[in-house]
Amino acid sequence: MKEIKIGVIGTGRVGLVTAAGFADKGFEVWGVDNDRKKIEKLKNKESPFYEPELDELIKKNFERLHFTEEIKDAVSNCDILFICVGTPQREDGSADLSFVEGVTRQIAGCLDKYILIVEKSTVPVKTAEWIKKVMRLYLKKNVEYDVASNPEFLREGKAVYDFMYPDRIVIGVESEKAKNILLEIYKDFNSEIVITDIKTAEIIKHASNAFLATKISFINMISDLCDKVGADVDEVAHAMGLDERIGKEFLKAGIGYGGSCFPKDIKAFKRIGDEYKLNFSLLECVDRINAQRPLKFFEKVKSALWSVRGKTLCIWGLSFKPDTDDIREAPSIRIVKILHDEGAILNLYDPKAIPEFKKVFPEGERIRYFNSPYDSAKGSHAILILTEWDEFKNLDLGKLRSLVEVPIIVDGRNIFKKEEIAEKGFSYYPMGKPPCESF
Ligand SMILES: NC(=O)c1ccc[n+]([C@@H]2O[C@H](COP(=O)([O-])OP(=O)(O)OC[C@H]3O[C@@H](n4cnc5c(N)ncnc54)[C@H](O)[C@@H]3O)[C@@H](O)[C@H]2O)c1
Repeated sequence: MKEIKIGVIGTGRVGLVTAAGFADKGFEVWGVDNDRKKIEKLKNKESPFYEPELDELIKKNFERLHFTEEIKDAVSNCDILFICVGTPQREDGSADLSFVEGVTRQIAGCLDKYILIVEKSTVPVKTAEWIKKVMRLYLKKNVEYDVASNPEFLREGKAVYDFMYPDRIVIGVESEKAKNILLEIYKDFNSEIVITDIKTAEIIKHASNAFLATKISFINMISDLCDKVGADVDEVAHAMGLDERIGKEFLKAGIGYGGSCFPKDIKAFKRIGDEYKLNFSLLECVDRINAQRPLKFFEKVKSALWSVRGKTLCIWGLSFKPDTDDIREAPSIRIVKILHDEGAILNLYDPKAIPEFKKVFPEGERIRYFNSPYDSAKGSHAILILTEWDEFKNLDLGKLRSLVEVPIIVDGRNIFKKEEIAEKGFSYYPMGKPPCESF
């Protein structure tokens, strides 16, 4: 067991992976969450959400993992506390930091020895200054503490891998002591460590997400042009990506980005620009292009089907990306709403996200859930693909052809090669590429 004890406040998508990941590196870790149900599940060695490899990691390291609802348990036992609570979007687009503030107050209220407080949640620049102010206001005892920034870059669906093998580790510090503690706990990670000041570290996270979202909206803008003139966006993206200055990642056209990070982080970063009277309107365009993607997809559906009223549409993929059950800000939510409002009958399938999706769209006469992609396709007038799960890429297209009423696939993620699809008698409508009609 290593000497430094680690506390993680908020055992959600980031916090739980952080807790289990550090436990796997040999640290004793206290995971805190104010959601009783989550803590009960965790005490039974069960992850409250689906993330590949996470359940195994929790079970494997359970002797070094403690789960509690009480922040004071982590404060009294730990040398370093990672704040991993949510920073959701407020109505005006800025980040709601009330969870971060609440947690900081609680830490201050029970701190009686040195501790390093680290923001891992995605926060606006200068949040650490607020954390320090709150500490000064609410601290009951005259003890030393440090505040640092260590933003998290993991991707849901690959979170365990990303935590263990990050492209880089960013550490924003303003004391030698804080720097040394963070360097010590990241000693066994084989990644480049960027040590900087706190404000720079805070900006690195927002700037990274804003840049990635910009790449996605950029290629989606090109995708619309390709659609209009009959060009192929995947080939454009491939050739662009071969240029090392551009890079091939995040140039996949489709129905846009979703999830709990990009949509809110882009808006929050734009708000920061506004606050300093800077021209961050580039991000407004990124956001607007993304917001239009579900409607662009609906246009594509109409170009394939004309009217959708009374038609049975099979929808594959509800999570905002593959390998997660997370549907926060998923494009599927808006697309399902549009199609339902237009009078379609929807057969929904997703490998993991159905329980979460049912909370938004309960089962009903025109919203039906299925346990297999084949069952969902039976009697359908079209199959619509909204998430690029591997499962969909490896289906028996001949069998699928025999189940559907009309052989049409509208592919919001361009997962198929049109020749393969056409060979089986399907008409295929991808994003930003010419359709392939079999009739
Ligand atoms: N999800 C991602 O892929 C990802 C990646 C990088 C960074 N982030 C950032 O990390 C932060 C957390 O994101 P997430 O997806 O893990 O959120 P999440 O909603 O999955 O988890 C947040 C957790 O904090 C808990 N919590 C809230 N208030 C609390 C309190 N007062 N005391 C104890 N626990 C409390 C919640 O119950 C929840 O379990 C956000 O700022 C997000 O932008 C997320």
